[in-house]
Amino acid sequence: MPPTYEEWKRDNWNKAHRESDITALTGTGLAGHLTTLEVNSLLVPDASVLCIGVGMGVWIQDMAKRGCNIWALDVSPVAGARMPANSNFTTNPRDLPSDYFDLVMSLWVAPHMSDHDLQEQFNGVIRSLKLTGTFAIHYKEPLDSKMKVDNREGADDEFFQARSAGMLRRRKHFANMVFWAGGYVKQTTNKQSSYFYQIIEAVAHIGKLQPDSKE
Ligand SMILES: C[S@@+](CC[C@H](N)C(=O)[O-])C[C@H]1O[C@@H](n2cnc3c(N)ncnc32)[C@H](O)[C@@H]1O
Repeated sequence: MPPTYEEWKRDNWNKAHRESDITALTGTGLAGHLTTLEVNSLLVPDASVLCIGVGMGVWIQDMAKRGCNIWALDVSPVAGARMPANSNFTTNPRDLPSDYFDLVMSLWVAPHMSDHDLQEQFNGVIRSLKLTGTFAIHYKEPLDSKMKVDNREGADDEFFQARSAGMLRRRKHFANMVFWAGGYVKQTTNKQSSYFYQIIEAVAHIGKLQPDSKE
């Protein structure tokens, strides 16, 4: 019997963190996160920052040296050991404080996530964003408008897609998910297109809607 998505997710990421598997965890440095997510100017010294997907954690350690108030959200409790002193860590987006973060960063996480998980994450993270805040997130889009996309947890090839960071989302669908969580897409940048894999790598900057504007 192949593992369920929940089993795969838990076992895969716990193992990767226990073994410090840099292939699975990517290991992007702080400069790579700031440049790809286009948030250099938003990382001011006493900003409250939420880091989604700890990875090797070096980027978070370096951010702590800049005097930011740091939280992290990761599916694996093992990743919590990589956090700097005086920071906060949770595995559950529902535990995040409300109206709190100036900046939220997510690089190479959404392409591993089912739609169900990403929607849960959006619900918690957008609630936790200040009205003036920005949630910068990297995701993948299909290049071909006719390409089959299925990010449900019961989909046929979900294990392959999640493992290979291949969860794809059309721009309109992504924007709807953000809206359902009380946010809006301020801007989307196409970072790279791969004609071989038929994907676009995109970075969205998400803001939070005023409470009475979600009509
Ligand atoms: C490929 S690594 C990327 C890490 C880092 N941003 C980088 O670019 O080096 C993915 C990280 O996201 C975490 N992760 C995977 N699925 C997640 C989920 N559903 N919710 C939160 N974190 C998740 C993993 O444990 C891992 O730390």
